[in-house]
Amino acid sequence: MDKLIFLDNGATSFPKPEEVYTFMDNFYRNYGVNPGRSGYDLCMETGELVETTRKMMADFFNGKDPNRLCFTYNSTDALNLIINGMLKGGDHAITTTLEHNSVLRPLYHLYKYNGVEIDYIPFNDKGFVDPDNFPKKFKKNTKLVIVNNASNVIGTIQPIKEIGKYCRERGIPFAIDASQSAGKIPINIDEMNVDVVAFTGHKSLLGPTGIGGLYVKEGIEIRHTRAGGTGVRSAVRTHLDEYPYRLEYGTLNVLGVAGLHAGLKWIEKKGLDKIHKHEIRLTAKLRDGLKEIEGVSLYCLDDITDHISILLFNIDGLDPINTATFLDVDYNIACRSGLHCAPLVHEQLGTDKIHGAVRFGIGPFNTDNHINTAVNALIEISQLYKRVHKNNNCE
Ligand SMILES: Cc1ncc(COP(=O)(O)O)c(C=O)c1O
Repeated sequence: MDKLIFLDNGATSFPKPEEVYTFMDNFYRNYGVNPGRSGYDLCMETGELVETTRKMMADFFNGKDPNRLCFTYNSTDALNLIINGMLKGGDHAITTTLEHNSVLRPLYHLYKYNGVEIDYIPFNDKGFVDPDNFPKKFKKNTKLVIVNNASNVIGTIQPIKEIGKYCRERGIPFAIDASQSAGKIPINIDEMNVDVVAFTGHKSLLGPTGIGGLYVKEGIEIRHTRAGGTGVRSAVRTHLDEYPYRLEYGTLNVLGVAGLHAGLKWIEKKGLDKIHKHEIRLTAKLRDGLKEIEGVSLYCLDDITDHISILLFNIDGLDPINTATFLDVDYNIACRSGLHCAPLVHEQLGTDKIHGAVRFGIGPFNTDNHINTAVNALIEISQLYKRVHKNNNCE
C-alpha cells in the first residue's frame, strides 16, 4: 500500500522533524541522568539542557521569569494543576463549550465533589465565543476564567486578548489551554492579557509524548495539589513553594525535555509564521476541495482567517467512523472521527447525535499531494455511499 498520509496532526504531530529523533537519541545515550540531583558533570550538563529549554519555552510565551515555566507530562497534567490549584469549594469559574475534556472534566469534578460553580460560554455559528459574554457572568466569587486558545475540533482561534482584558479589569485570573495553538501561532501572554498558559509538547511543538507544562505569570499563585521529591532542600517537610519546584513533582521527563528542545529549535529555524502559512494554505485547499463535493457538510469553515489547520466535516448520512475507516483502509489516510474529547462542541453543532464528525489535522510535513489524494478519496467515498444508499432504497 502507498505510504501513510497522516492527517491526524490534531491528535499528535507525526512524523517529527528528523532533528528531534537524532537529538533525543544522542541526548539519552550521553546525558540521560537525573538532573538537579547531584553535582557531577553529567548531572549538571543534563540540568543545563532542562534549564535552557525552560528559558526557551518561557521566552516562547514571552514569560519574564523562566522559573515560572514548570514542566509537566502533558497539558492534561498542567490543566489539572491549574484548575485544582486555583479553585476551591464555593468558588465560581467561567469556561466555554469549546473546551477539551482536560478542562471540562477537572472542572466538573470540582463542581460535583466540591461545589464549585461553573458557567459555560457557548460559541457562535462561526465557532467563536463573544468576549462581551464573559463580564455578564462575572461574580464576586469568580476565581478563574479558562478558555481554549484554538479549538481542537473546529480549529477556530478565540479572541483571547479581548477576554483577557475583561478579566484584567476585574482582577480575575485568566488561563488558556494552548494545546493546539502552541507551535502554530504566536502566544504572547502580555499582549494577550493571559495569566497562565498550559501546553503540551507532542502536538505542534513537535516534541515527543509525555512532556508538557505551564507558565504562571508573576503575581498569580497556584496551590500545590501534589507533593514529592524536588531534588533540593530535602529536609523541608512540605512541598516547596518556590517555582519551578512548586509545580514539579519527582523526576522530570528529561528525554521529553530534550525532544521539546529540538522541536522548538526546528520551529525557530523554520519560522512560526512560515509553518502557519504553509498549513493554512493547505487547509484552504482542502476546504475548497471538500466544499465542491455534493453531500459533504463542513463545520465553521467559511472563513479561515482566525483558524488553525483543523477541518471538521461529515459525508451526510454516513457515520463518521465509516468515513474514517474508508479513508484508512482504502486510501491509507489517517484522521480522527468521533467527539474528539470535546463533547460540548459536538452537542452545540448537533453532531453528537450522529457519532460526531471527521477531523483532518494538517501538519508541517503535509503536502499538496496529500490534500489532492484526500479530496479525491472523499469524492470516491461519497459517490460510493450514494450508489449503495440508492440501491438499498430501491430494494
Ligand atoms: C485543546 C486540547 N486541550 C487539551 C488536550 C490534551 O492534551 P494531552 O493529551 O497532551 O494532555 C488536547 C489534546 O488533544 C487538546 O486538543
